[in-house]
Amino acid sequence: MSAYEYIEHDYDVVVVGAGGAGLRATLGMAEQGLKTACVTKVFPTRSHTVAAQGGIAASLGNMGADSWQWHMYDTVKGSDWLGDNDTIEYVTRQAPRAVYELEHYGVPFSRTEEGKIYQRPFGGHVSEYGEGVPVSRACAAADRTGHAMLHTLYGQSLKHNAEFYIEYFALDLIMSDDGQCTGIIAWKLDDGTMHRFNAKMVVLATGGAGRTYFSCTSAHTCTGDGAGLVARAGLPLQDMEFVQFHPTGIYGVGPLITEGARGEGGFLTNSEGERFMERYAPTFKDLASRDVVSRCMTLEVREGRGVGPLKDHIYLNLSHLPAEMLHERLPGISESARIFSGVDVTKEPIPVLPTAHYNMGGIPTNHWGEVLRPTADNPDATVPGLMAAGECASASLHGANRLGTNSLLDLVVLGRATSIRAGELIDPAGAVPNSGHAKADDIFARFDATRNAAGNSPTAEVRLKMQKAMQTNAAVFRTSETLSEGCQQIDEIWGDLKDVKVVDRSLVWNTDLMETLELQNLMSNASAIIVGAEARKESRGAHAHEDFPDRDDKSWRKHTLAWVDENGKTKLDYRPVHEKPLTSLAEGGVDMKKFAPKKRVY
Ligand code: FUM
Repeated sequence: MSAYEYIEHDYDVVVVGAGGAGLRATLGMAEQGLKTACVTKVFPTRSHTVAAQGGIAASLGNMGADSWQWHMYDTVKGSDWLGDNDTIEYVTRQAPRAVYELEHYGVPFSRTEEGKIYQRPFGGHVSEYGEGVPVSRACAAADRTGHAMLHTLYGQSLKHNAEFYIEYFALDLIMSDDGQCTGIIAWKLDDGTMHRFNAKMVVLATGGAGRTYFSCTSAHTCTGDGAGLVARAGLPLQDMEFVQFHPTGIYGVGPLITEGARGEGGFLTNSEGERFMERYAPTFKDLASRDVVSRCMTLEVREGRGVGPLKDHIYLNLSHLPAEMLHERLPGISESARIFSGVDVTKEPIPVLPTAHYNMGGIPTNHWGEVLRPTADNPDATVPGLMAAGECASASLHGANRLGTNSLLDLVVLGRATSIRAGELIDPAGAVPNSGHAKADDIFARFDATRNAAGNSPTAEVRLKMQKAMQTNAAVFRTSETLSEGCQQIDEIWGDLKDVKVVDRSLVWNTDLMETLELQNLMSNASAIIVGAEARKESRGAHAHEDFPDRDDKSWRKHTLAWVDENGKTKLDYRPVHEKPLTSLAEGGVDMKKFAPKKRVY
């Protein structure tokens, strides 16, 4: 019998997380009359989607010719041929509809002279199946696109009577003995009460795990909670070794300077004042795919051409652009540059450095958001009652590397897809599953052990050790030596986690305890990243392995699956990439001959 009492809630659907994907899923569920709860650890409009800047990709063609087929090609190439082509087709075809829907919901997009949605160029988005010129595909609300979307989606969800449970922390999934997800247990942070949410469908939309790294663009809340929940439920994570470094985090602090700054004409220079991207990517220069730009910047620094007293970063130049344009199109980053580096962008360059930004991997799903539990017979077998969308999921739209602005698109298209599929799977008249008390008691036993942890390692110290181990050993470039060192260090840090010290034993606003639970989640992410990376003997997308500098499609065009147990032991397996698109050429799809893998150059 548990020492914790809890309050019961019954819903058709419980969405965990209220960023772009969580809100779009919630809205879609509520719109069709499903009784829907959205459970979130932060106030919805404080979710990390708020920080997304440059835009959302869609081939509207408002500023020049474009097509969903070109967008699909760019995404397949950007993924370094690891993305699932059915998902990529679905998302890129749906993109224009999704953006017009956002416009009708009320997102205040910037406008062209003719009043159309304004679009800007972004890295890797090109015309003519990669052979043409950069296309303006990123639909932007100045440089605050995520902010605008998040507020609009929250308002729409409220309009459709979705119920919000705000500042509730999800402790664990409730899994039945036959492998169905039947709900979650959550801790209400402001009054210490415990809650069991029983549901016909749980949708995880908990965001990324940027905080596994020391320097990242992500909020402190990005602790990979969904991946932690899934790992503890004995389910795998997919392609976690692919971690995106955004080229332009502000030096020393990390906040994002949007790639839209280069889309608007900004460029990078080294200590010699050279626009070095012209050397590495002669065609697309500063608008090459972001993994490529991050690597080039790192090489410049390594070869002694970094700027600043320590020659350890790079300059992003915007001062040649008209001040009115910077004010109108890039007001957010102009402010960030002033606050975080004391720079007036109309006069001086911004000091920048590649910074951990996005997890391409996550909870494996199909393009409807159903979570996968691959078996030997069926690599696409699904888990009843469980879906995932957004950065915590891996559908796999992004494969080994995500193109900028495909993330906001992922949130709304795949967030909505979960609601379409849930509408087919859920019988609103059916009974809500109830797992009995034993499962909840097991979850409270883990919670209680953490709450009363009386070891010798303060949470903040263990977390810092993990972040430094990841930053040192699994960043932009990796080697067999750093990866094996990283695996060993992360293994040792699991030992420290077992010896963690929680000082505050209360249940009300206990940030010490919450950060420890978040650290447990982060550690599952860190293990899946480093062990998956150590095993992958090739370079692909964001995984740049210096001892294996080439992509090896024969051996490695496959998704990594990682099962991480409660002691950090990590087991790997693989599943095939979906090479087939959704629609054949005869049915109006793409000519897959154009999509065959080749060397990825920009
Ligand atoms: O650079 C940016 O505005 C980031 C966009 C993205 O990660 O999609």
